[in-house]
Amino acid sequence: MRDRFKVVGGAHLRGDVSVTGAKNSALKLMAASLLATGKTTITNVPDIADVDIMSELLTRLGCLTHFDRATSTVTIDVPEKLGHRADYDLVRKMRASINVLGPLVARLGEAEVALPGGDAIGSRGLDFHIKGLTELGATAHNEHGYVIAEAKGGLTGAAISLDFPSVGATENIMTAAVLARGTTTLDNAAREPDIVDLGNFLIAMGADISGLGSPTLTINGVTQLHPTTHATLPDRIVTGTWAFAAAITQGDIAIHHCNPEHLEVPLDKLVAAGAVITSIKDGIRIKMDRRPSSVDFATLPYPGFPTDLQPMAITMNAIADGDAIVTENVFEGRFMFVNELMRLGAKIRVDGHHAAITGISQLSSAPVIATDIRAGAGLVIAGLVADGTTFVEGAYHVDRGYPQFAEQLQALGADVTRVD
Ligand code: UD1
Repeated sequence: MRDRFKVVGGAHLRGDVSVTGAKNSALKLMAASLLATGKTTITNVPDIADVDIMSELLTRLGCLTHFDRATSTVTIDVPEKLGHRADYDLVRKMRASINVLGPLVARLGEAEVALPGGDAIGSRGLDFHIKGLTELGATAHNEHGYVIAEAKGGLTGAAISLDFPSVGATENIMTAAVLARGTTTLDNAAREPDIVDLGNFLIAMGADISGLGSPTLTINGVTQLHPTTHATLPDRIVTGTWAFAAAITQGDIAIHHCNPEHLEVPLDKLVAAGAVITSIKDGIRIKMDRRPSSVDFATLPYPGFPTDLQPMAITMNAIADGDAIVTENVFEGRFMFVNELMRLGAKIRVDGHHAAITGISQLSSAPVIATDIRAGAGLVIAGLVADGTTFVEGAYHVDRGYPQFAEQLQALGADVTRVD
């Protein structure tokens, strides 16, 4: 298995890339298809490993799933009688598996979903999901590593408020409330474009939802939903990755099939770093003809700077002119990536959820390990601005979120290959 990227430093990425559908939307649309019996069709689905995992999960629940890679289309034929258990071997590979919880409880009145990565009910990570479902009338307990949720008499609408605008909890509550009796209001809901995409998909299935994209969602339950056809929105994190890659490598990339409105804060920051961004017919072109200037970043829920682009922001500052502070407000564990970047010579000090970065003109190649999807992409891009050849281990992480990453980099002029 070729699980390392070999990255030869010194690239200036130039050319065109096309962005596919968003991972974090497509996976949720697939899970939500469970809400209606019959055949749902989802287009613009990215060809990434996580889509295969979600397909396998839905297949085990009794669905007939098919991914036509040539047309980027997934079809899911949902039977009347569905299974209600999502096994640990799949859930541990991909946290988005937890998104089947809301639809299964809503449709079947029961669900058993493995706890991802040792989480316990009430612990950080799944407590908002459980609290929301409980407020809708379900009971939930933790048994043998599974969340077991039940609502045999159906769910009932409720007024729910989240402590933090969690993306996953908003999705699970929304996909449960659509089939509940009465009205649900969800305050402090997440506003990510993925949530809006999922909401529009549910509306096309017959759901009654208002307030999408705002912090308060109102959901009037309906008795039944029907299958639909829906196109996944473009991946804003992949778009942002290419935009940062252009800035970091002093390149010039035209990014097609993207929606720049979903990236206002990151693009403003790139302009502050010295990039020139112009509109093209179906996206943006980003050009950087000098060493980037350092820029401070603080990650926040949408519309703030996305935590998923934090590795790219740190990588840019690592080779920028000046000092910067990057503050992580969503996932503190994300700074694990910093230790790897420091192996490439980056000058970074981490204090709690702040990273202080002093830019240097060039990184120094070394073997590094990708700890997650975005860290992996960030390290490959960092390797492009290191002297010599960098090996990034854990390429499978990157496969989970970026279709054909090495091939796309090659098309932009980089010397990046997959090796044993
Ligand atoms: C999703 C995205 C991920 C992105 C993140 C934030 C998917 C598959 N993943 O993750 O790429 O980085 O949104 O934009 O869509 N929390 C709790 N209790 C809960 C739920 C969350 O304490 O019940 C905390 C988390 O630990 C984290 C914060 O809330 O600190 C935000 O998490 P959340 O928005 O739920 O992220 P995910 O949906 O897991």
